[in-house]
Amino acid sequence: MRGVIVRISGPVVEAEGMTGAQMHEMVTVGKENLRGEVIRIEKDHAVIQVYESTSGLRPGEEVKGTGKPLSVELGPGLIGNIFDGTQRPLQVLAERAGVFIRRGINVPALPRDKKWHFTPKVKVNDAVYGGDIIGVVEESGLIEHRILVPPNIQGKISEIADEGEYTVEEWIAKVRMGDETRIIRMFHTWPVRRPRPYKRRLTPKIPLITGQRVIDTFFPIAKGGTASIPGGFGTGKTITQQQLAKWSDADVIIYVGCGERGNEMVDILLSFPKLVDPRSGRSLMERTILIANTSNMPVSAREASIYTGVTIGEYYRDMGYHVALMADSTSRWAEALREISGRLEEMPAEEGYPSYLPTRLGEFYERAGVVETLGSESRIGSLSIIGAVSPPGGDFSEPVTTHTKRFTRAFWALDKELADARHYPAINWIQSYSEYVDEVSEWWIENVDKEWRRYRSEAMRILQREDELKEIVKLVGPEALPDRERLILEVARILRVAFLQQNALDPIDTYSAPIKQFKMLKIIIDFYYGAQKIIEMGVPIFKITQIPLISDIMRMKSEIPNDKIELLDELYLRVKASLSELEKSLR
Ligand SMILES: Nc1ncnc2c1ncn2[C@@H]1O[C@H](COP(=O)(O)OP(=O)(O)OP(=O)(O)O)[C@@H](O)[C@H]1O
Ligand SMILES: [Mg+2]
Repeated sequence: MRGVIVRISGPVVEAEGMTGAQMHEMVTVGKENLRGEVIRIEKDHAVIQVYESTSGLRPGEEVKGTGKPLSVELGPGLIGNIFDGTQRPLQVLAERAGVFIRRGINVPALPRDKKWHFTPKVKVNDAVYGGDIIGVVEESGLIEHRILVPPNIQGKISEIADEGEYTVEEWIAKVRMGDETRIIRMFHTWPVRRPRPYKRRLTPKIPLITGQRVIDTFFPIAKGGTASIPGGFGTGKTITQQQLAKWSDADVIIYVGCGERGNEMVDILLSFPKLVDPRSGRSLMERTILIANTSNMPVSAREASIYTGVTIGEYYRDMGYHVALMADSTSRWAEALREISGRLEEMPAEEGYPSYLPTRLGEFYERAGVVETLGSESRIGSLSIIGAVSPPGGDFSEPVTTHTKRFTRAFWALDKELADARHYPAINWIQSYSEYVDEVSEWWIENVDKEWRRYRSEAMRILQREDELKEIVKLVGPEALPDRERLILEVARILRVAFLQQNALDPIDTYSAPIKQFKMLKIIIDFYYGAQKIIEMGVPIFKITQIPLISDIMRMKSEIPNDKIELLDELYLRVKASLSELEKSLR
């Protein structure tokens, strides 16, 4: 099919003579063969969003169909790579075109010349189904890439490649499907707007451990869950997302830099290869895929970038991995949607966003989950999605934040006042919530401590009580409160400073193992119980606040490393002893 451009409006192009074009079909536009996607069709008239700059494009130039929807290539070579929003490999483009990435360059997403060492896992005559593993490739030091039978294929293996070196384009298996023989290569393509199939969904129950105390202990996200991080300008969205990308215990990380400043992506590019995976000692890039559509890149590719990311995420999920996707920032994605919708002259809804904004957000987060994957063996994989939201002026009542809140089950509200006070991460503990607490409790009880739930609730209660008392203190000053309430204020302060605040830049504090988080919490809460008892016996509060060990509690997060947990047990005993001494001195 060949059409002719009749109108150009920024990233949106209209063409006539497009009979036969499909919705979401990829097309090439103009002399330079810019890549675009059909986003509306009426008779022979199509509207196309173009993924590259349209400057210089003229009416009368040609539009050609490809017959395929916007798709990504799935196969070895994804890990450690950096793609743009439509999966063009940015490093290769930069090498070919110099510093300025030229338009219309079509480079395949996966390298075609690279050979991978393939080890078959099936034999001739084996029956295989979509999702079965036919062989493996060591993609990186951290990821064994499982070559799957694509979802729509099933039959008997008629040929299987020997163990050896192959490029992604060579056949590695042939499957007899009725009269037909289907060739299986190490890669296949998948349309980004179509969720990949699985057998069934399971309840997310295992926490995604991030090493960030306010998240893991207070507002956890489960593997396969969804979370949002809304926050005004400079409140810590990017740092939080990067902390999660660095430390969370997912097998594969997909980081989508969506409409943010280029230097933030550069930060990642420079820091990730140097960072070491704490579990394996290998470079973090060996489990990471970056998708970068920075603010200077075309908006329509930004619109596509989250789908590209999520589809790649589902693909690794289907191999049986736990994948976590971070998108920074979904507001910039929504703005791209708004801009394109404006060009289409659609009727705007709230704040100029199209009326389908909530549907699109819902569909995106819906692609997270823990699933039993396709295939004859039982395999569990998960995809967690964590989206940053940048509400203008930090106003959480705007459409992107309010709709995102409906579709995400953990909500980490960044607070301007906390950020200004340099309380980082500036996650507000009163406004934030997680609907995964019940589900992940079992994991904490089995793997960390049977009293996890009780200590967590007690800490939350103290922080909430502080919030209520704050109002009274504002009016009458702390002196007017009874000592038992002043103790709550003191313990809440310790919780805030010693536990909730966590410095991403401190080599020890940047990551807290679950056991460390729990023991820290237990020290603080048991200190509270001990102090409460003594106060009831009539000891004045200043005797408690003067206990020298409080400063040790304040420093434990950055002084006690994750591999010296016994030091926390010692501190615990010393705190207990110092309280009993106070108690004894009363007798
Ligand atoms: N956990 C943390 N530890 C230490 N510093 C932090 C932490 N979180 C945020 N900061 C500080 O806050 C600054 C701003 O954070 P960040 O860039 O993540 O904000 P943002 O919300 O992404 O901003 P923008 O709206 O510009 O995208 C950082 O440069 C850093 O100094
Ligand atoms: Mg940012």
